Amino acid sequence: MKKTRVGIIGCGGISHFHMNGYKELEAEGRIELVSCCDIDSGKVAAFAEKYGFPRHYTDAAEMMKNEELDCVSVCVWNSAHKDCTITALRGGANVLCEKPMALNAKEAQEMYDEAKKAGKLLQLGFVRRFGEDAEAVQKLVSEGTFGDIYYAKATYLRQNGCPGGWFGDKKFSGGGPLIDLGVHVIDLTRYLAGCPKPVSAYGVTYANLGMHRAESEMGWHVEEGEHPYNVEDLCAAMIRFDNGLTMSIEASFNLNIEGDVGDVQLFGTRAGTSVNTLRVLTTKDGRFITFTPEGEHSFRFGPAFGAEIRGFVDASEGKAPCKAPAEDGVWLMKIIDAIYESARTGVSVEIK
Ligand SMILES: NC(=O)c1ccc[n+]([C@@H]2O[C@H](COP(=O)([O-])OP(=O)(O)OC[C@H]3O[C@@H](n4cnc5c(N)ncnc54)[C@H](O)[C@@H]3O)[C@@H](O)[C@H]2O)c1
Repeated sequence: MKKTRVGIIGCGGISHFHMNGYKELEAEGRIELVSCCDIDSGKVAAFAEKYGFPRHYTDAAEMMKNEELDCVSVCVWNSAHKDCTITALRGGANVLCEKPMALNAKEAQEMYDEAKKAGKLLQLGFVRRFGEDAEAVQKLVSEGTFGDIYYAKATYLRQNGCPGGWFGDKKFSGGGPLIDLGVHVIDLTRYLAGCPKPVSAYGVTYANLGMHRAESEMGWHVEEGEHPYNVEDLCAAMIRFDNGLTMSIEASFNLNIEGDVGDVQLFGTRAGTSVNTLRVLTTKDGRFITFTPEGEHSFRFGPAFGAEIRGFVDASEGKAPCKAPAEDGVWLMKIIDAIYESARTGVSVEIK
């Protein structure tokens, strides 16, 4: 049987997690690692050697012209997602693009349209959908445990946690903790609630701490010529959905808080839960009760990426439906655009 031919664009931090997943599939004889690409020639050469890619490139268009690839992971910084994804789709590959889908909804829509035109799969790197915690909660949702989920709280708060470099430079990242961290928990919440359509958002952003910390020992030092730090520290927002669900979201790179906090909480007509602890809070025979479902339900980064890559290859081979389709990436970018627009204007923004 022909092996699925795999390539990767962007050989930085997150690409190694994609590679762990591909290496597992290579060991099973399902895929062939064909070529990798990064604009940094030293980095891509070392990457090719480390993972055993026979060929490497510094230009994605050249790679797609020279190679026949079935599956391509796009792991570049956010501002390059659109061009690299479209290049890979036009070159005939199915694409797994890292989150956030793009800098904004307009770019995301172009990527979505291109995938449709090319007749190729475009999956989003919503890795939280592939966690054992998400699977356990989704099972409870499908059993009707929570009833109608009408309120949800998504949090991803870091005390002092901008990854630095391009992540703090809006031109490359599109924004701060909302687009980088918030995107994970907004998507997970929406996914667990059955992917309702967002209708409006009201949000605020603050940039009080990071700008100063950037020049202090508490953060990172910005050398001349390096990326400026110009993104928000904190974003808080309320998102309304067409099925009556309201979601609150808080995400920060910098906040005067004791340590880092992250969770997704769902509140339904029958029960509520926190994804982190996966305790179900409900009532029975006139009493409040709490129970913990059996089985594994923690979020583990490595296994979740393994499941994401396996899911991508399965979907590209037509063996399973895609669990994180491009359509949901576009909705997420519409939500993010609306929150930033609301923070700028001070009024609630409609989402269409
Ligand atoms: N799913 C997750 O949990 C998760 C975690 C971290 C990062 N990410 C996402 O992964 C992406 C990459 O993040 P990272 O931390 O690996 O960044 P990084 O800076 O470590 O790596 C990005 C790489 O892309 C390369 N690159 C940029 N433009 C390119 C182009 N046009 N062609 C080829 N290579 C190009 C850079 O040279 C760099 O090596 C981002 O979109 C980020 O949001 C996702």
